[in-house]
Amino acid sequence: NWTMAGFRQAEIAKIRAQVGSGQVICGLSGGVDSSVAAALIHEAIGDQLTCIFVDHGLLRAGEAEEVVRVFRDQFNIKLIHRDASDLFLGQLAGVTDPEQKRKIIGKLFIDVFDEESQKLGGAEFLAQGTLYPDVIESVSAIGGPSVTIKSHHNVGGLPAYMKLKLVEPLRELFKDEVRALGRELGLPETIVGRHPFPGPGLAIRVLGEVTREKVAVLQKADAIYLEEIRAAGLYDAIWQAFAVLLPVKSVGVMGDGRTYDNVCALRAVTSTDGMTAEVYPYDVGFLTRVAGRIVNEVRGINRVTYDITSKPPGTIEWE
Ligand code: XMP
Repeated sequence: NWTMAGFRQAEIAKIRAQVGSGQVICGLSGGVDSSVAAALIHEAIGDQLTCIFVDHGLLRAGEAEEVVRVFRDQFNIKLIHRDASDLFLGQLAGVTDPEQKRKIIGKLFIDVFDEESQKLGGAEFLAQGTLYPDVIESVSAIGGPSVTIKSHHNVGGLPAYMKLKLVEPLRELFKDEVRALGRELGLPETIVGRHPFPGPGLAIRVLGEVTREKVAVLQKADAIYLEEIRAAGLYDAIWQAFAVLLPVKSVGVMGDGRTYDNVCALRAVTSTDGMTAEVYPYDVGFLTRVAGRIVNEVRGINRVTYDITSKPPGTIEWE
């Protein structure tokens, strides 16, 4: 009879047999799949694994720090944390088109990952958190720099790491099984139960041009929203919830003064696969409480709206 503990032991044996004394590199994003793959492979081969975390500076508040804390400090995994935020934000300067943002981020992500993997030298294997649904239908159409790097049309030829042999210990698992395995491995619930997050990160939630300042404003509003969702016990009932910073200013009053600041939109949907989605029906008291906190605590935002569009015809993200 199949158990997760049995699967864990069997996969560890398989990873050891495949890898021998070779070196493995693994891209880490803070997402569930790459996190579970890294923790499992580390249990199998210890320091033969090096994780590379390409930090584009577009994660939610505190998440980059959490990746480092969990993987380097708690699991003692060899981790390269490359802060590439200047590079990403530099190339995003002046860019407003959503698909252009995705292209820039996807390409840079691959370049930086390739650079870091070549610095390491000598790796023979690339670990990926490929799941069974990816294997059967190859869902690569999303186009973000998901750390499961599936295809890359680079005129200069394939990046070096793409010639490595793949280690894919989650290939037989569905998402809920990956979560169960992550819990079995001792990963924190904040990582194992995390909502899906797009590869381009907050770049597609700061509508229009992305700047470091706007990302910081959005991170604050988003953190308050998520904190309230968790405090109300709603996190696990929602598929994705996030704040969006709109490139629109509106007038408000604060104390004796008039403000003229940006608008923030809140999104929350239920879904089973992201293909269709229903608006999460918060009660109004929850929404007004979040709006009050954001406007009072985040300088730069003076109005909050709730997005009540289902998918279709809306998309989950705004860009
Ligand atoms: P939409 O906005 O198309 O989103 O309804 C459907 C799901 O896909 C995620 N998404 C992305 N994921 N790179 C990613 O890795 C992207 O460029 C991207 N765009 C959207 C979105 O968060 C939702 O889960």
